[in-house]
Amino acid sequence: MKIGVVGATGMVGEVFMNILARSKFQVTELRPFASEKSEGLKVKSCGKEWPVQSLYDGCFNGLDLVFFSSGDDISREWAPKAVQAGAFAVDNSAAFRMNPDFPLVVPEVNATRLPPRTQPTIIANPNCSTIQLVVVLNALKKFGLRDVRVATYQAVSGAGKAGREELLAQLREELAIRGHGDSVPAAKPEVFAHEIAFNCIPHIGSFNENGDCTEETKIVNETRKILEQPKLKISAFTVRVPALNSHSEAAWVTFDRTVERTEIMSALENEAGIAFIPQRQPRDYPTPRMASGQDPVYVGRVHQDSSDPHTWLLWIVADNILKGAALNGLQIAERIFRT
Ligand SMILES: NC(=O)c1ccc[n+]([C@@H]2O[C@H](COP(=O)([O-])OP(=O)(O)OC[C@H]3O[C@@H](n4cnc5c(N)ncnc54)[C@H](OP(=O)(O)O)[C@@H]3O)[C@@H](O)[C@H]2O)c1
Repeated sequence: MKIGVVGATGMVGEVFMNILARSKFQVTELRPFASEKSEGLKVKSCGKEWPVQSLYDGCFNGLDLVFFSSGDDISREWAPKAVQAGAFAVDNSAAFRMNPDFPLVVPEVNATRLPPRTQPTIIANPNCSTIQLVVVLNALKKFGLRDVRVATYQAVSGAGKAGREELLAQLREELAIRGHGDSVPAAKPEVFAHEIAFNCIPHIGSFNENGDCTEETKIVNETRKILEQPKLKISAFTVRVPALNSHSEAAWVTFDRTVERTEIMSALENEAGIAFIPQRQPRDYPTPRMASGQDPVYVGRVHQDSSDPHTWLLWIVADNILKGAALNGLQIAERIFRT
C-alpha cells in the first residue's frame, strides 16, 4: 500500500500514522502532508521516518489511499485531486459528509455502502460525536427508534492540538494564581468562546438562526444519513468540557415498544465495536480517562426512564481521535482493500 496522510502533523493525522503500524496494511510508501511551516519535518510511522511535504499538483500520483485531516477547505480542494490520481480519499472533514454522491461510513453500521476497490472515490468519515452515537443506535435499532436525544460532553482534543494547548495553558495559569496568590492574567480564549479551564461551554461551531450549533446539526443530519432514516426524530445539545480526550454522551433513546432489560443488555453485549460495562458495582461505568487510547465505544449506566417505559438512558464514551476519527478511517480503508 502506498498511503498519503494530509494533516500528518495534526492531532488526528499523528494518531492515524501510529495505528497504521498495527493495521493489516503493508505500507511500502507513506507521504505525509502538512502546511508549509511543517515542510522538512520528519514523522515516524511503520518503523521508518518520512519527510513532511506541502501539497502540490501531482502530489498524490501513485498512491492507493489518501487520508485527509486538515479541515473542510483543504479536503474540498484536494480530495477530488486524490481521486483523479487514482487513490481512495478517506476524508475526516465535514466537506463531503452530507453530499449524496459520497458514502458516509461507520464500518460496523453501513460498510455495505463502501465501493469496490476498483472504484476510487471519496469516502466521508463522520463527525466524532456522530460515530460513537450511531454505533450504539445501530445495536438498538431493531427495537424501533422513535426518538433520540443526546447531550454531549466533548473533550478539548476535539478542537485539535490548539484546543488541547489552550486548556493546558489556562490550567497552568489558574494553578499558578491559586498556588501563589499572584495576579497572573488569565490566558485569553482563542480556540474556545470562553475560558475552558474549570468551565463548560455550550457552544461547538457556530449558531444557526434557530440557535443550533453546527456540531448539533452535524450529529442530527449525519445520524439520519448513516442509519438511512431521513425522518428519525433526533435532537442534540453539545457542550465542550475540560476533559483532555474522549467524548462522552448522555443519550435518551425512545423505542416503538417497551424493551426489556435483558433485550437491551444482550443487544449491546453482542455488537461489534461496543464494550458494554454492566453496573455491577456503583462505580462501574465508563469515563473519558478510561476510554482514552482505547478502540471501542464504551456504554454504561444503561437504565430505563422511570417516567417512560419506552425510553432507556445510556452513557456513551469513546476516544474521539481513535474511533471518532483515525481508527474509523483506517477501518474504512481496511474494508475496501481487504482481499
Ligand atoms: N480532533 C478530533 O477529535 C477530530 C475528530 C473528527 C474529525 N476531525 C477533523 O479532522 C481534521 C483535523 O483535525 P485535527 O484535530 O487533527 O486538527 P489539528 O490538530 O489542528 O491539525 C491540523 C492539520 O492540518 C494541517 N494543515 C493546516 N494547513 C494546511 C495546509 N494548507 N495544507 C496541508 N495541511 C495543512 C496542519 O499542519 P501544520 O502542523 O503544518 O499546521 C495539521 O497537520 C478537521 O477537519 C477536524 O474537523 C477532528
